[in-house]
Amino acid sequence: MAVFYFMLKKREQFGSQFGLIMAAVGSAVGLGNIWRFSYIAGVNGGGAFLVVYLLCVLLIGLPVLIAELTIGRRSGLSTVSAFRELAPGTFWWVAGAIGVLASTAIACYYPAVAGWSLGYVFESIANWSGMTADTAAAFGEFSAGPKSYIFAAAALALAMAILIRGVAAGIEKWSKMLMPALGGIMVILVIRSVTLPGAGAGVAFLLMPDFSEFTVGGFLDALGHSFYSLSLGMGVMITYASYMKKSANLAAATTSIIAMDTGIALLAGLAIFPAVFAMGLRPDEGPGLVFVTLPMAFTQMPFGQIFCTLFFLLVFIAALTSLISILQVPLAMLEDRFGISRRKGLAIIAAVAVCFGAPSVMAFGVLKDFSIMGLDYFTFLDRFANNILLPISALLGILFIIFSFGVAASRKEFLEGAGGGGRFMSALYPIAVRTVAPAAIVVIILRAAGVF
Ligand code: PHE
Repeated sequence: MAVFYFMLKKREQFGSQFGLIMAAVGSAVGLGNIWRFSYIAGVNGGGAFLVVYLLCVLLIGLPVLIAELTIGRRSGLSTVSAFRELAPGTFWWVAGAIGVLASTAIACYYPAVAGWSLGYVFESIANWSGMTADTAAAFGEFSAGPKSYIFAAAALALAMAILIRGVAAGIEKWSKMLMPALGGIMVILVIRSVTLPGAGAGVAFLLMPDFSEFTVGGFLDALGHSFYSLSLGMGVMITYASYMKKSANLAAATTSIIAMDTGIALLAGLAIFPAVFAMGLRPDEGPGLVFVTLPMAFTQMPFGQIFCTLFFLLVFIAALTSLISILQVPLAMLEDRFGISRRKGLAIIAAVAVCFGAPSVMAFGVLKDFSIMGLDYFTFLDRFANNILLPISALLGILFIIFSFGVAASRKEFLEGAGGGGRFMSALYPIAVRTVAPAAIVVIILRAAGVF
């Protein structure tokens, strides 16, 4: 009986075009846009990295995004089940399974960084002088201590509290409120940053390409980051698209995801680098840029405390909506594939995230000396998911489009509900999906394998 009920139950859908766009943009815009983009752009020379990154997004990110959205909406099922539905009796579902593994691995370390940003909202309100006296020492202490556990757990709990309400009343409703708030805070921060005396050098650093120091490593970073930033290769876009109606405009969704994801990364750069340069700090600090260099810049400007609080609130909102989408992947898989209810599914995922996620928070404290293949646990999860699982899953997804679903069928699905803009957006899709996109992903995989 339960099985029949499950089969007959109508699938949830996003209520509006705006809602589905906000949810998908909420997934794409995350720590990647603010924390990861700014530090890799910083170490790879700023403007030059930006140009290469934009090319990667348009030539490789766009076709993979179209591929994933069409697989999801056509099947009306989350990843794994989507492949089983479109190609019954084959092994293409493995592409989805690897995506689920990738998103689960990310779900085990993303709460740690989400927790730092939530923690820093509170620290900058309640412990401003302690936090800024020596920002490097303060961050070291915060990330090693019990506060980081509490805030990571709080970030995870908040994401789950939203997820338990479902797609429309949970994900969609909250994304519609949080994403515009994020945009508003971003504009305030950019205005503050670019009007600081001496900000021009930071703007120039980000916007004036200087290829003299750009390396092959920088190019590969840009390539990999375009996937990560657009939430590709982990089943997120397949899963979200499965809740989109046939009348939903996928071309508008694609344009918004690409434009807003890139736009927010750019604005984050404009909020961060001018402030860093104006205060005489270095842009190539690495992963600590946002948590160490930036708070130092805030201490030196008028009303810095307020801007610092707003900044970390922004980072946290970005992280929260992405975390929600990462958790939704295994959750929807359990629901669609095994008929497990949302509540039970969330309990299972919470157990996994706590067991396998806790060590990633502890990697900065008690587990500092614990390593897997020479990497600390946190970095291991990040590399394993992003450098290995994600490109393999994305490549299999593309091969599925070419050899099973059909490039023409995928494009047809894309155009359904899309106006003339859809034809324009997908004009190069058939060529890109057969050539540059798979070739570029193979390059990413070979690099991860240490071939060059
Ligand atoms: N795209 C997100 C970001 O830029 C990261 C993310 C990864 C989101 C995996 C969902 C799934 O931070």
